[in-house]
Amino acid sequence: MPGNKVNLLLKYYTEVTRSKHLHFGFWEPGEELDMKNLRVAQDRYLRHLLSYIPAGVKTVLDAGCGVGGNAVELKNRGYDVVSLSPDPYQEKVFRENTGGKVQFCLTGFEDFRAERRFDLVLMSESFQYMDLTAGLKKCREVLNGRGWVLISDFFKVDGVDDREVHISGHSLSGFLKELEAEGFKIARQEDVTDRTGPTLNFMISLFNDYAIPSIRMLAYAMETYIPFVYKISRRLFRSPIKKALEKSLVDDKTFAKCRRYMFYLLQLQ
Ligand SMILES: C[S@@+](CC[C@H](N)C(=O)[O-])C[C@H]1O[C@@H](n2cnc3c(N)ncnc32)[C@H](O)[C@@H]1O
Repeated sequence: MPGNKVNLLLKYYTEVTRSKHLHFGFWEPGEELDMKNLRVAQDRYLRHLLSYIPAGVKTVLDAGCGVGGNAVELKNRGYDVVSLSPDPYQEKVFRENTGGKVQFCLTGFEDFRAERRFDLVLMSESFQYMDLTAGLKKCREVLNGRGWVLISDFFKVDGVDDREVHISGHSLSGFLKELEAEGFKIARQEDVTDRTGPTLNFMISLFNDYAIPSIRMLAYAMETYIPFVYKISRRLFRSPIKKALEKSLVDDKTFAKCRRYMFYLLQLQ
């Protein structure tokens, strides 16, 4: 579909981690923060998330599906799954990871035209990318009767000054108000901020151990072979890009001050 763009940060994570998941992990206390354990922690997160799916659910709309790790697990557990994402790079990797066995729609959730209704909409760390009201209205539109929505995502804590950090997330109080307005009731909820937080510390170490040395190497090559381009890039990297990176790379403690990572099981009334 024209207009759909590749999210470069998510592409970077997919290529660097080679994981089938694009969500945070669930870490055990003291677990070493390395690539192998990231995948273990992501599997642990997914098992816990899927334990929220109520008995009787057969059809699942995987809204904001990433590169297919969740869809494969849902399919293996016998659910009838349809997945969607607006990202053409993810579509390619999703088709590889699922072996073409799960239907994929290249679209944002807000623009999704459902050909049928679903028992449950899953939004695993994708809700923050959607328009709050349009996303909840779309859930109403695609759900069967008193259907379910399962959201795992982080939300802005109200009243905290977060100007020094660049992390997304809908306002928690705004979300709770909108839920009520759209006729959803919370059936179950859990604050998993502490269990997911180490993922951020791992991302910082990934940046320091892999990205920084690679950027230095590239800069050295540019300075040697294309000094003019090097001078411009250096100026760019020094100021706006460097600042933006510093603000988006936050550790678990800063994150916990201004965001709540929540699991919500909602039911349409
Ligand atoms: C952090 S990734 C999570 C992917 C996957 N659910 C997982 O748990 O690994 C966010 C996902 O939301 C998707 N997304 C972004 N904007 C969206 C929108 N408007 N509607 C649906 N999905 C969207 C992204 O393309 C990506 O697949």
